[in-house]
Amino acid sequence: MTAEKRIAVYPGSFDPLTRGHLDLIRRGARLFDRLVVAVLVNPEKEPFLSEAERVELIAREVRSEPRVEVRAFGGLVAHLAAELGARWLLRGVRSAADLEFELPMAHSNHLLKEPGVETVFLPARPELAFISSRLVREIARSGGDLRPFVTPGVAKLLAGKVRGRP
Ligand code: PNS
Repeated sequence: MTAEKRIAVYPGSFDPLTRGHLDLIRRGARLFDRLVVAVLVNPEKEPFLSEAERVELIAREVRSEPRVEVRAFGGLVAHLAAELGARWLLRGVRSAADLEFELPMAHSNHLLKEPGVETVFLPARPELAFISSRLVREIARSGGDLRPFVTPGVAKLLAGKVRGRP
């Protein structure tokens, strides 16, 4: 008898991927057999990076992680999890404020689709817990040094993107 594969979804906006996200992906890849990083496509919001840019950036950064794959998704994450046969969602928690935002979402995701996906929270490493994509976008727009916050690949894309803007 073969054991059932433990599949998890790590959903997020990843606009852009930060060092905190990357750390969580690497740690999540050690907990599950397959980790699907799911990039939210929200038609109501104009993202900083396009869906394709975000997916491509993440795929490049995780290419040495055989258990990790990346895809875009729209709609509800609970539906995506059911479609993939994933029983877990992975989310990082940096602070009490994060948890306040995360708990209603975790309970809702559990109720939205039978048999009920479980959310697994990992604490952000303290040295990365101050990082947010919002902060990164702000620093990028003003031409600040992004190296503490994102990988060199992400920093390069962001710098090019900002230079190319009117
Ligand atoms: O990186 P973020 O912006 O904190 O991620 C938020 C995300 C994408 C996990 C959340 O907004 C989400 O799951 N959106 C999809 C719609 C959904 O399923 N919402 C939760 C049910 S209440």
